Amino acid sequence: MSDAAPAVGAEGDRARTAAAIADIVAGLDRAGFAVVGDFVPNTAVAALRAEASRRDAADLYTPAGVGRGAARAERADIRGDRIFWLDEAHAAGAERPLFAALDALRLAVNAALYLGLFEFEGHYALYPPGAGYARHRDRFRDDDARVVSCVLYLNDGWRVADGGALRLHLDRGAYRDVLPAGGTLACFLAERFEHEVLPATRERLALSGWFRRRPIGKEK
Ligand code: OGA
Ligand code: MN
Repeated sequence: MSDAAPAVGAEGDRARTAAAIADIVAGLDRAGFAVVGDFVPNTAVAALRAEASRRDAADLYTPAGVGRGAARAERADIRGDRIFWLDEAHAAGAERPLFAALDALRLAVNAALYLGLFEFEGHYALYPPGAGYARHRDRFRDDDARVVSCVLYLNDGWRVADGGALRLHLDRGAYRDVLPAGGTLACFLAERFEHEVLPATRERLALSGWFRRRPIGKEK
């Protein structure tokens, strides 16, 4: 293919993911957050959605909790989703390209911003109609390992009237609402931004996760 040819097929997909990664790095650097439209192609979103539904049909999700350890509680009034943790070592075929894209993102962020991210942890999150997640930060009180939060949305044909926005609280009372449309990826510094999930009129599917650094004092 000549340099002038439009990027199509797998090559076009790779080019769009690479452009999205560059946009995320620039956004994190400039504002501490970034939202990009097509982190992974529609076919990959559809495959992830099918995988998420398959695991749900197999009853593999558990109610999400708030806090952890002895402080963990199931509080549907605070957080109404159910989750399934991803396991890269046993990733489904649909999940492997996503792990590859996330690792490329991790390396690009490290190269540009020196955040020392060394691993990703994440889960599917299914919100039934009416469920949300009250305003919160993504760091546990006793653990600062989560540095960058990422949420990839897997919903088909989402409209503003469906609700379910991610509301990212910015400085001085300002906020930014992100529609959970399939292929959209929102990334933000976990320590900095409070955020919430507004209730939706339909089921809302996301894959959320965190790039982690090695916790201080736990170098191994
Ligand atoms: C989370 C979260 C946001 C979203 O899982 O911690 O804030 O838009 N998710 O799903
Ligand atoms: Mn969160």
